[in-house]
Amino acid sequence: MTLSIGVLLSGSGTNLQAIIDRIEEGTLDARIVIVISNIPGAKGLDRARKHGLQTRVIPHRDSASRQEHDAALITCLRQHGVQAVCLAGYMRLLSPDFVQAFPRRILNIHPSLLPAFKGVHAQKQAADYGVLIAGATVHFVDEHLDHGPIIIQGALPVSPAESGDDLAARILAVEHRIYPQALQWLARDRLKIDQGRVVLGLQGLEGRFPAVHDQFCISPGLEKGF
Ligand code: GRF
Repeated sequence: MTLSIGVLLSGSGTNLQAIIDRIEEGTLDARIVIVISNIPGAKGLDRARKHGLQTRVIPHRDSASRQEHDAALITCLRQHGVQAVCLAGYMRLLSPDFVQAFPRRILNIHPSLLPAFKGVHAQKQAADYGVLIAGATVHFVDEHLDHGPIIIQGALPVSPAESGDDLAARILAVEHRIYPQALQWLARDRLKIDQGRVVLGLQGLEGRFPAVHDQFCISPGLEKGF
């Protein structure tokens, strides 16, 4: 069955675009029924409109509290029959009420290998720390910031010479690969949670790319002979 998704965003919406592209090419069995932003001029809203998607602006400044704002979001998402909520650069903390309104049906993408570097500017945090491997994570959302059962991660080597911005751009490219994949697993009902961990149903596992059992990401690269 085609999964009805509601997308929440605050910014440029390149992850939304990646999801739209996968839906339009037929790889992702989902439909985006509503795109909501708390920021009136968010570029992601234009992307949505260009593809004929319904959009709604629900500015957080119009609400007296986080709870009130989240209640407006819940109402809108329910009105559109959303089965899963996809946070795509949504720069607001969600209240426990919101999380409980869509139990185990809210996904987030974060530009770090969680649980490292939560919060804002994760790519810069990673670069400043001097990590040699960075990446991105898609996870189910719980009541805590950038926390919840991990669905998929993508890792890449960090070059000491590159700027934080270059690293962020390369991480973003990873995000665009892994978020649609996580959503497709959700659409296919492949994601179970057992003792706080995601268990991916086996069906179709052999077709996964890249293969998980014969690849490492080692940074800096090994010298010949090692
Ligand atoms: C991404 O880096 C995502 O991981 C983070 O916010 C950014 C959103 O980018 N949560 P975009 O709006 O999808 O381009």
